[in-house]
Parts: sequence; structure tokens; C-alpha cells
Amino acid sequence: MRIAVFGMGYVGTVTGACLARMGHTVWGVDISAEKVGMINEGLSPVAERGLDRLVSLAVRRGRLRATLSAEEAVRRSDLSLVCVGTPSRADGSADLSHVFHAAEEIGRALRSRRSYHTVALRSTVPPRTMQSGVIPRLERCAGKKVERDFGACFHPEFLREGSSVPDFFRPPKTVIGAAGPRSARRLLELWRPIRAPLFLTSLGTAELVKYADNSFHALKVAFANEIGTICKYFGVDSHEVMRIFVEDTKLNISPLYLQPGFAFGGPCLPKDVRALCSAARGAGLDLPLLSSILPSNSIHLRRARDLVLATGKRKVGVLGLVFKSDTDDLRESPACALVRSLLEKRRQVRIYDPRVDLRRLIGANRAYVARQLPNLNRLLVESGRELLATSDVIVLTGNQPEFDKVLRGLTQRHVLIDLVRWQGRAAARGVRVQGICW
Ligand SMILES: NC(=O)c1ccc[n+]([C@@H]2O[C@H](COP(=O)([O-])OP(=O)(O)OC[C@H]3O[C@@H](n4cnc5c(N)ncnc54)[C@H](O)[C@@H]3O)[C@@H](O)[C@H]2O)c1
Repeated sequence: MRIAVFGMGYVGTVTGACLARMGHTVWGVDISAEKVGMINEGLSPVAERGLDRLVSLAVRRGRLRATLSAEEAVRRSDLSLVCVGTPSRADGSADLSHVFHAAEEIGRALRSRRSYHTVALRSTVPPRTMQSGVIPRLERCAGKKVERDFGACFHPEFLREGSSVPDFFRPPKTVIGAAGPRSARRLLELWRPIRAPLFLTSLGTAELVKYADNSFHALKVAFANEIGTICKYFGVDSHEVMRIFVEDTKLNISPLYLQPGFAFGGPCLPKDVRALCSAARGAGLDLPLLSSILPSNSIHLRRARDLVLATGKRKVGVLGLVFKSDTDDLRESPACALVRSLLEKRRQVRIYDPRVDLRRLIGANRAYVARQLPNLNRLLVESGRELLATSDVIVLTGNQPEFDKVLRGLTQRHVLIDLVRWQGRAAARGVRVQGICW
């Protein structure tokens, strides 16, 4: 394939040289005459293990050339990969000026093109950049329509500096966010020889996947460092703690606890995070990440409450009160906190949860309910049917299988506030559905 790579920095040079190694013909484009000159002399403008050799080989074989002219590169290629920088501005926002400048140059070059050309942005950009920034510029400058006349994709890059050449050939995944099926075709063809899980998705999803990834990597480092700080204070070996931690691939390093939904609660997580933060405070340790977990959870609870309030309806039915399915434990259940906050806002709340039997509540569980919801017995109803009959808004807080039957009784009169990503198709039956994070 003939490929133009915009930006001869860390990502672009590695991409260009590795694509040339795969047998493609690559035009590297940069606004820096110095970088263009270096590439054409067979030298890599950036230092990466194995890159010097790849660049020099590719240039000698005539598979990699560089130019200052976007027009020339686009004219001679079928695909443009845009790898220009997106540095931070002083206010923290991403500076997209290089991306937009490249998009305008490519757009102008597309004006006179007859054959289909695909533009894939690899720079990391905030959500909606493709839809509201890049594609409008390409269309305006080209005088053409995306997907019909040219392809547009957001195609994040997952390589790590220092091991970017091996990462290029063995990426953790390939993600293609495409404006449409025609836009995706060339990238699908390009990556056929590379073995990696492939995700073909929307532009917005692809944009956010990259930020989710990098935020999570940063979060992991900060988390390990805060745990390490506590370990050091208490004379515990932090590396041994984290070695055991990562060995747990059932609960820790796993998809569990990584699904957007309702706030966490129950008898352990809030209590233990509170106790750890308290111990750290007592030791005079400053651990902002761990200390912000409970405030973040409270804000999320408020978000759920605000979704209910925003419906403007007064009669609220809460489906599920226990803190998770298959238990009758109510201690620190986020649903209890939600009910309480709705009562404080003078909503008329009814609750249905077959797991809750007030006569059987004992010990800490009973004490918690007595404190949080002293008149719970007057809020509980006997059946899902009764809940639907007495409520205009239904708040689904749990995934108990018997709730499916209840939810099938929703009518157009109801609004469903879904905190668990219910798989039923209430919206298809004309029910207004609001998800908490979707
Ligand atoms: N560095 C990484 O490890 C890495 C990994 C994944 C994704 N990314 C993302 O990839 C993007 C590029 O990162 P980088 O580290 O390679 O940046 P970089 O600063 O090393 O390189 C960017 C290059 O783009 C050139 N450029 C600017 N405007 C241009 C234009 N209009 N036309 C052609 N070239 C232009 C610059 O001269 C520079 O050489 C960023 O959005 C970054 O967040 C980086």
C-alpha cells in the first residue's frame, strides 16, 4: 500500500519505518525541514531501540522518503496516517492546532484526487475531535463528503516509547473507529498480517478508549505508589504486597469492578477504604488518590439522585435495596443512601426487594436500617406490580433475575432510571430510559 505518515516524531517515525519494513511504500511528512532532511539521509530523528537500522534500511530500499509537502505525499498515497503532536496547553486542554492544520492540508490535497483516499488520525485527541473538528475541515478543504468520497477513521496508537518497534508488530490491540464501513476498509487490509485483537467501532468510542487506557495506566502507577507509601510507613515490603496483589486475576487484575454503573457500597469497601485513609492520615501521609475514592462515590450517588429529580416526577419506585444481588445485606447499600436522599428531597418513595424481610434483619444490618431508613417498613411494597402501579419513575439498582419480570410491566407512563445497564428493551416499548453512565 502507498501510505503518507504525517509527523515524523516518536509515533510517526516508528510507524513509517515499520510500515516500510512490512513492504509498504511510505511518504513521511513533517513541517520540520531538519527532520525531513534526516529521514532522507537514512537517519531517525528520534532515538528508539532498533529504529536507526529500520529507517536506514527503508530509505536505502526506496520504501521510505520524507517531504515537507502534504500535497505531494497525499497525491502519491492511498492512506494518510496522522501522527502529529497534541501537547497540553497551559490550561490543560489538548492543543489540536497541529491536528487541524494537517487536516486542512490533507483536505486541500484531496480536492484534486479522483481515487478514494482514507485519512486516519493516530494522535491522541479528546472525544468528538473527529466528528466536530477533523471531518468538517477535511470536507470543507476537499469540497467532498466523508465516507462517500474519502474515508475517515480515528485509529489510536498503543505503542510505548522505549519498546515502540516491538510494540508496533505486537500491539495489545488494534482499534479502528470509522466514519463508516468504506472508511474502515483500508485499515482492515493494512493490519491483516498483524496478530492482535481487532475492534471495529465508532469514532467516539475509539477516541475515548485511548484516554481510558492512558488514564488507567496513570491511575495504576499512582495507586501502586500510594500503597507503597503506606507500606513503607508500616515497615511492610510494598513489592511483596503488590506481587501478591497482581497474582489475583479473579478480583484484582480482571474485568470485575470495571463496569460503569451504580456507586459501590456494602459492608466492606466503604468501611475499609475509610479505615485505610484514616490510618494514612494518622501517619501524616498525603494520599490524594485513595482519599478521593469515597468522595467520588458520593458524587456518583448524587448523580443518580439528580437523574431521578430531573424527571420532575414525585412518585419514585426503587427496584432493589440490597447492596448486591444474592445477599440480604443492606449495610452501606448505595440504594439505601439513594432512597434517603430522595426522601430528603420530598419524593414519595416505594421500594420492592424480595431479598429484604424486615422480620429477619438482625445485628448490624438491622441497626444500619434503623439509622438510615427508620420507616423502611412503610416504604416497602409486596410486589413488583404494586411498585409499578404506585410509581412514575422506576430506579433499577440491582441485577436480580426476578426484576426482569417486573420491568417487562413498564409502560409509557414510566421513566426508567437504569443504574445497572439492564439488558431488556424497555426503550423499544416506548418507555423513557435514562442510564447513569450511558
Ligand atoms: N509518544 C508516544 O509514546 C505516543 C504513544 C501513543 C500515542 N501518542 C500520541 O501520538 C501523537 C504524536 O506523538 P509523538 O510523541 O510522536 O509527538 P512528537 O512531538 O514526537 O512528533 C510530532 C511531529 O509532528 C510534526 N508536525 C506538527 N504539525 C505537523 C503538520 N501539520 N504536518 C506534519 N507534521 C507535523 C512535528 O514537527 C513533530 O515532528 C500525540 O498525539 C501523542 O499523544 C504518542
